[in-house]
Amino acid sequence: MLKDPSKKYRPFPPVDLPDRQWPNRVLTRAPLWCSVDLRDGNQALAVPMNVSQKLELFQALVKCGFKEIEVGFPSASNTEFTFNRRLIEERRAPDDVWLQVLVQAREDLIERTFQSLVGARKAIIHLYNSTSPAQRRVVFGMSKPEIVQVAVRGAQMIQDRLPLLKGTEVRLQYSPESFSATEVEFAREVSEAVMEVWKPTPQRKAILNLPDTVEVAMPNIYADQVEYICRNIKNREALIISLHTHNDRSTGVAATELGLLAGADRVEGTLFGNGERTGNLDIVTVALNLYMHGIDPQLDFSALNSLREIYERCTGMTVPPRHPYAGELVFTAFSGSHQDAIRKGLAEWAKGERQYWDVPYLSIDPRDIGREYREVIRVNSQSGKGGVAYLLETEFGIQLPKEMQREFGPLANDEVDRLGREVSGAELKDMFWREYIERTTPWQLRSFVTESRNGTVCCRAQLLREGQTVELRGEGNGPLAALVHGFSRVGVPRFEILHYSEHALSAGEEASAIAYIQIRDAQGRTRWGAGVDTNIELASVKAVLSALNRALAG
Ligand code: KIV
Ligand code: ZN
Repeated sequence: MLKDPSKKYRPFPPVDLPDRQWPNRVLTRAPLWCSVDLRDGNQALAVPMNVSQKLELFQALVKCGFKEIEVGFPSASNTEFTFNRRLIEERRAPDDVWLQVLVQAREDLIERTFQSLVGARKAIIHLYNSTSPAQRRVVFGMSKPEIVQVAVRGAQMIQDRLPLLKGTEVRLQYSPESFSATEVEFAREVSEAVMEVWKPTPQRKAILNLPDTVEVAMPNIYADQVEYICRNIKNREALIISLHTHNDRSTGVAATELGLLAGADRVEGTLFGNGERTGNLDIVTVALNLYMHGIDPQLDFSALNSLREIYERCTGMTVPPRHPYAGELVFTAFSGSHQDAIRKGLAEWAKGERQYWDVPYLSIDPRDIGREYREVIRVNSQSGKGGVAYLLETEFGIQLPKEMQREFGPLANDEVDRLGREVSGAELKDMFWREYIERTTPWQLRSFVTESRNGTVCCRAQLLREGQTVELRGEGNGPLAALVHGFSRVGVPRFEILHYSEHALSAGEEASAIAYIQIRDAQGRTRWGAGVDTNIELASVKAVLSALNRALAG
């Protein structure tokens, strides 16, 4: 990199708009949406989609509720042309869906584009030519008036052929490509010249699309450019102002949102931001950003996982795990403090007492977009006891006492650390079983019976100790006190029970119970134990043995 980048790069000039209005506005409704997945998205793929992949993605877009879909560049290739013909001839587009096609200002291309549209119910013909200083100088070697001429000639060629599409409702669209890198006054001039030919009216509007073809500045600059056009373009009420952002500086979403504040009516973009270089605008993100503010986006992403699967299958692209809303990991908390906060937030929400979603770390309820609570918490070595306890409880109904969580959490973390990867709920349960339930050495239970004599409980237990049977008798004010007494009689150093709790593990005939015991030994050390049995008394006795065995292990 250069020590002094100013020798090679320059700042982007601001727009002279001191009374800009957009910073004071808020978004209150969804824009019109146009998917350009099948054109801009497709042309950016190493292996472009074949007709059947395009058909599958088209159906998925319709299902999401897109009413405008740019289906291709029919004059550019046979695949594109055939695809458009199949959509029309096989009547695949619902009556209220506009098929949009892109074309450059060249007669042969316009001719072929019209042929591709014959018989369509609704069609948007999208004309573009590039207008920025670099494109004028490097690509076309044309002056500003010559660029205007190209656009006007293209607009006229389209206008002249409209009678060929009798029976088709046609809407016209113009894009000064590289708009955001074009002087705003010139972008306005060329757009007005095109509209002079098409003569849109408020009843028969044309679309003026303002592409951020390559992001060249911060999103506030794009908003200024859009507001400048909205306020100054002739005949604004006859135009649908449309945004088309890319993501070169990673602010495509922000630019679109600010562009909407600046007065735009329509947004073009792709699912998950597929598109040239760093991609087009991600429509899913903008739509769900509106949704999380309580605005109906007019697009349905309630089955986001399956939409992502279709997208990945058709395009061969993958949605990164951290991608907003759709990424594998975005509803997953790894850190203990996040897990704890989410757990509390979800519990509060489950009570149904709050009107508005306000769960820490979860910007929306994952279930609204077909994602799962189960994805919210997973456990790795960074997780705290909260996450461990949450998984055991939600997946297996194991409700560890708070203090026991403090003992088991770090043990589980050490184990996960050793494995060096994330673990599943089932693996955590195995760890818990190995650590507590299966701790049967040195003491293992064979049988345990009690009887009551004058208010005192007497117990008789058969235990195994290193293969030898040990018979144990004791007395106390309850079965566990009698057991502890029995142990003291066979030479086990005294210990006391500090905590006892239990709960049912599952319903039905084979219902079992789990008991949790905390003991303190003669040296003042505490240990937890747990036992499972269909008989609750036996579960508690096993829990005492589990705690004792753990204490004896050191
Ligand atoms: O990015 C762009 O400028 C385009 C135009 C053709 C609208 O895709
Ligand atoms: Zn584009």
